[in-house]
Amino acid sequence: MKWDVDSYNKNAAYVSRYGEEVLALLNPQKGEFILDLGCGDGDLAEKIALAGCKVTAIDASPDMIAAAKKRGVNAHILNGNEMDFKDDFHAVFSNAALHWMTSSDRIITNVFNALRVNGRFCAELGGSGNVQTITGQLYKELAKRGLDGDDYNPWYFPSKERYARQLEQAGFRIDFIDQFQRPTRLPTNIAGWLGIFAKPFLRDIPDPEPFIQQVMAGVADSLQGKDGFWHADYVRLRFNAVKS
Ligand code: BEZ
Repeated sequence: MKWDVDSYNKNAAYVSRYGEEVLALLNPQKGEFILDLGCGDGDLAEKIALAGCKVTAIDASPDMIAAAKKRGVNAHILNGNEMDFKDDFHAVFSNAALHWMTSSDRIITNVFNALRVNGRFCAELGGSGNVQTITGQLYKELAKRGLDGDDYNPWYFPSKERYARQLEQAGFRIDFIDQFQRPTRLPTNIAGWLGIFAKPFLRDIPDPEPFIQQVMAGVADSLQGKDGFWHADYVRLRFNAVKS
């Protein structure tokens, strides 16, 4: 998927703001080697580097990597499926990126291999039920056009139990894992959110604007408050797992 960095910053700056809570869980220590998996524009990788760590940041999007490099981050275009690090890192950090990486067992194994013994995998992704209202409406509008949402849905939102099992099967010990609802106020509206994040659902929609407006109208009762502000129905899955 192609990312527009300017539009991302306008509509989704909250992603890295909330990511600071995951940074606190990571608790980076001076001198540690840390991999930021799915680093986006490098905002959080930059903060980890400011804590005195040696950061390697990777993302599959060339546009995001260009933005991260502009900040001075040691950033590389690389897909988590293809990364091949061996015992290199004290920690692997990831914020709001793992749900885009649908080969989850392979990603978890690649993270495990990338870590030193006692290294930690500290991350947050969408958990089961994440953006369910929005996704349900996308499926409805696609169905009206004879299309099946499953053919377009790019996301993996596992339950806490399922992801814990995957982590343990790969050899991790779970230090902390939690799943919680976090309705998230949007700086613009659902159309702005869809325009950035839901592009894969628009692949076979020749005229996306009316489609987006119909999805927005369909979720307004659930996601627009009386004050006019829009919220996305986020569910977070946050964990710290240790390579033992
Ligand atoms: C999330 O952070 O949960 C998310 C962001 C974009 C698309 C889907 C989920």
